[in-house]
Amino acid sequence: MRTRCSVNTFITLSGPHPTYLVTANDPRNNNKAAITVAWGTPISVNPPLFGVVISPNKVSHTIIKEAGVFTVNILSIDEIDEIWWAGSHTGRQYENKIKSAGLTAVPGKTDKNATSVIEAMASFECKLKNMIPVGNHTLFIGEVVSAEANEEYFDLEKGKWIPEKARLIFHHVNDVFVTSGEREIVHE
Ligand SMILES: Cc1cc2nc3c(=O)[nH]c(=O)nc-3n(C[C@H](O)[C@H](O)[C@H](O)COP(=O)(O)O)c2cc1C
Repeated sequence: MRTRCSVNTFITLSGPHPTYLVTANDPRNNNKAAITVAWGTPISVNPPLFGVVISPNKVSHTIIKEAGVFTVNILSIDEIDEIWWAGSHTGRQYENKIKSAGLTAVPGKTDKNATSVIEAMASFECKLKNMIPVGNHTLFIGEVVSAEANEEYFDLEKGKWIPEKARLIFHHVNDVFVTSGEREIVHE
């Protein structure tokens, strides 16, 4: 029997959500933004658009707006401590939040304000195209201008994650996460 639950349960019901580390350089002072984001989604193939939903009271909100670019980093469940740290500490107190999170910043590919983390299994860079206020958050829409993946985890030929290697992070609720499994279900 299904039991009625609070409307706000929709967030957990619609998950677990793939969870990323979104990064950027602040052009005003070269500070680095790093925010854990569970609300992110592809929006369009042509042009290639990706959206991340960020609360206006996050430092990353200001930095990404100033940078005009953001990078989506896909980390493994092995980096759950770093992801949790970045998702529970504000960059206001840290010039280089990437380093403070225990990760290593590397320059982006297409823009001086873009930065990635070397520990990521894959990352893609997005040029900020639009910021749309939605309820109490802002939808940042970026055009994907560059993407790279570590072949240890991602099969470039088949264009897919290697399930026994890439243990992706999905946020479930509060401090509960799940990871991707080794067994693939291939629809005949
Ligand atoms: C698993 C997880 C997922 C999160 N997802 C989002 C999100 O999608 N959007 C958002 O604005 N904040 C999200 N947060 C909260 C921010 O990551 C957190 O407030 C962070 O400290 C903000 O950092 P900043 O102030 O340096 O930008 C999430 C936190 C965690 C732990």
